Amino acid sequence: MEIPFAESYRIKMVEPIRRSTREERIQWIKEANYNLFNLRSNQVFIDLLTDSGTGAMSDKQWAAMMLGDESYAGASSYYNMKNAIKNILGFDYFLPTHQGRAAENVLFSVLVKEGDVVPGNSHFDTTKGHIEFRKAKALDVTIDEAKDTQAEHPFKGNLDLNKLEDALKTYPKEKVPFILVTITNNTSGGQPVSMENIRGVRQLCDKYGISLFIDSARFAENAYFIKMREKGYADKTIKAIVAEIFAHADGMTMSSKKDAIVNMGGFIAMKSKKLFQEASVYNIMFEGFITYGGMSGRDMNALAQGLDEGTEFETLETRIKQVEYLGNKLIEYGIPIQRPIGGHAVFVDAKKMLSHIPKEQFVAQTLGIELYIEGGIRGVEIGAILADRDPETRENRFPDLELLRLAIPRRTYTNNHMDVIAAALKNVYDRRTEIKSGVRILTEAPIMRHFTVELERI
Ligand code: F0G
Repeated sequence: MEIPFAESYRIKMVEPIRRSTREERIQWIKEANYNLFNLRSNQVFIDLLTDSGTGAMSDKQWAAMMLGDESYAGASSYYNMKNAIKNILGFDYFLPTHQGRAAENVLFSVLVKEGDVVPGNSHFDTTKGHIEFRKAKALDVTIDEAKDTQAEHPFKGNLDLNKLEDALKTYPKEKVPFILVTITNNTSGGQPVSMENIRGVRQLCDKYGISLFIDSARFAENAYFIKMREKGYADKTIKAIVAEIFAHADGMTMSSKKDAIVNMGGFIAMKSKKLFQEASVYNIMFEGFITYGGMSGRDMNALAQGLDEGTEFETLETRIKQVEYLGNKLIEYGIPIQRPIGGHAVFVDAKKMLSHIPKEQFVAQTLGIELYIEGGIRGVEIGAILADRDPETRENRFPDLELLRLAIPRRTYTNNHMDVIAAALKNVYDRRTEIKSGVRILTEAPIMRHFTVELERI
């Protein structure tokens, strides 16, 4: 008999989580004004709000924490991180930051000016926020296949090189500080970018004299997909693929809370000494001295160890197979999800699932509420609430897709939990016609409203 796949770790420490009753959840979500961000974590049984900072560290990471050097300047932990970044990612220069958006803030303070255009593949919200805050434009040039959840494409995170070249022909070179490639493409469903595509972007960068930066939050998962799906990479190690990816880039921003499997941390890495020096000024101003930048020594140590573990094939195989396990269960139950299944999350197509609810009633949010009531599971809306209002007309923006993201924390839940999630969602699916209406907004912030919005059921 074929021996089944199993996790590449065993569990040494556990954290109790509590099941609740449906009546309790109905009460709690009402008290939370139907905003899943307002729930207390002990009101949630399985928390799929994000895979960011929610992973379980390894024994070696905890051991590394004990050896953290908390010196203000020149700590050994800083050099451990520096060595890991040089050896695994190939960059000579780096600056620690407290998380990914802080890396964006520091780097963009140097590079992005009013009136600039930053082309990329579905910039993440905070990235877009930091670009738009500087009165520049985040131009999305993702391939069109990404907008169709049912279209199968092995690298649905790719940039459309024709759209990109059109943009480079349209805008003068001085207006395009860099091209930003996000791996994996979170917004389009945790979908990877192929090495061929990265190479193609690099060629356009060279042709037009523009830099290439990589938003690298889930770079290791991206490398795993290249190994599994792209011709010529099956026999390469993850670390070799990672090195090849970053060899094409001038620099990167990193949210280490994802693929470096730490609870807090980030960094900017770059090839240019000049850029490093310019960014150092902002790093000191916003984050901290250049050898700690918002991180404690123990966190830098854990990060260095996490970068090594996170780029091991076994770690990635265990992780991505779990996401796949959940996705396949949902497909088996007939639930419409973004295909193919992405790296860090399963994205449920709420518009297809609750096709009778009008978009003005926030379909993905409604599905998120129903899944919480059904099983105490917390996902996150990637739909019209997240999209905010148009800054000029103040009208609601209704994106093409209304998705409920179920992000899977690394090394945290078992496949039994995946079974619970799938069953709960199936129950919601089976009673979907009984869900007669969605929600309406009571109060909202002018931007990033999804975090604090207050809603009521219609
Ligand atoms: N870039 C990408 C692609 C991200 O997914 C995130 C965060 C960031 C940058 C910002 O990093 O949170 O460390 O400041 N994504 C989280 C998520 C929050 O849930 O997808 P950060």
